[in-house]
Amino acid sequence: MENFSVIKKELESASDLKEVDDIYKKYLGRKGQLTLALREIGNLPEGERRKRAPKLQKLKHDIEEAVKGRLEFVKRDVIREQLKKESIDVTVPGSKAERGHLHPLTLIQDKVNEIFSSLGFEVVEGPEIETEWYNFDALNIPADHPARDLWDTFWLKPGRTRMLLRTHTSPVQVRYMEKKHPPFRIVAPGRVFRHEASDASHDLQFYQLEGLMVDKDISVGNFKAVINEFLRALYGEDVKIRLRPGFFPFVEPGFEVDMSCTNCSGKGFILSEPSTKLRPRRSESKGCSVCSRTGWLEMMGAGMVHPNVFKAAGYNPKLWQGFAFGIGIDRIAMMKYKIDDIRLFYSGDLRFLKQF
Ligand code: FA5
Repeated sequence: MENFSVIKKELESASDLKEVDDIYKKYLGRKGQLTLALREIGNLPEGERRKRAPKLQKLKHDIEEAVKGRLEFVKRDVIREQLKKESIDVTVPGSKAERGHLHPLTLIQDKVNEIFSSLGFEVVEGPEIETEWYNFDALNIPADHPARDLWDTFWLKPGRTRMLLRTHTSPVQVRYMEKKHPPFRIVAPGRVFRHEASDASHDLQFYQLEGLMVDKDISVGNFKAVINEFLRALYGEDVKIRLRPGFFPFVEPGFEVDMSCTNCSGKGFILSEPSTKLRPRRSESKGCSVCSRTGWLEMMGAGMVHPNVFKAAGYNPKLWQGFAFGIGIDRIAMMKYKIDDIRLFYSGDLRFLKQF
């Protein structure tokens, strides 16, 4: 068995954790020299045992202490080396956290709310999951009415009440009128859902803004004035609108409001390269997908509130009149930012979203 000074030297020359561990095992492992010597001690004659045992125990204690000390030293050394390699330069500029921003539809929604607020309209909300009653019946659309087919509906699993994802924001009109008395003017923005095929100007979820103004002596003239003011505030002087007759069971008369397409400046086609000719050749122009080559895009349905809707709300239709409208917010945004496909809003594509 080596004496302690030899073992100590051995330990001092060990430069990594494994070498220290190997030396520990050499003496104190299961078959280590000192372990075996300690095991043998029981076989020695009494006198020799008494002499040898304390010496071996002390050697064991010294080795353990020396191994512990060397381990600490080697560990510190390893860490020091590691730190040298991994040194941190605190002067290097950090990586910037990316800042998000509002979605283009939210930006437009805020702007639209702001314009209507400045015209004295209160902003109210209604639920996206509606009952059949508010979405259809209370709006003068009974179960067998063919107008229900206009709004392809997502029905929820049958329960006690028939529920659906609202197909338009018009139910908010009824919910509001149930609680309030005229005169008032409100707008109700929100998401709506339709089970229909999507294309450049249609999606199966989109945003609408419902408008309702009820007072005495309200006419279509008031509606035109409000909508003109709204469009001028949003787009400037340049946009043109046109009213066409349209049918909605909850208004009488009803109309559709179109706006001149900003994607093609109302022409119905887009020049693929600059041309000086008054009439571009076919090869130089491409039909506008947003307005289906018509130069006009349907922006809203509107009309004078039907007397039956007033009656359902408990108002006297002889006393009160009002106009209502439902604007497609996505299309408002498409016209504002000249976006040629509505589906981009819901694509989650950062290349698109980062432009706003
Ligand atoms: C309605 O939803 C009626 N509730 C509007 C209304 C309100 C009429 C009050 C009278 C009084 P319509 O289905 O036409 O009407 O939709 C209104 C607007 O929503 C359309 O003019 C269009 O701008 C937009 N819109 C309709 N369908 C889609 C669609 N699939 N994708 C994107 N926008 C759409």
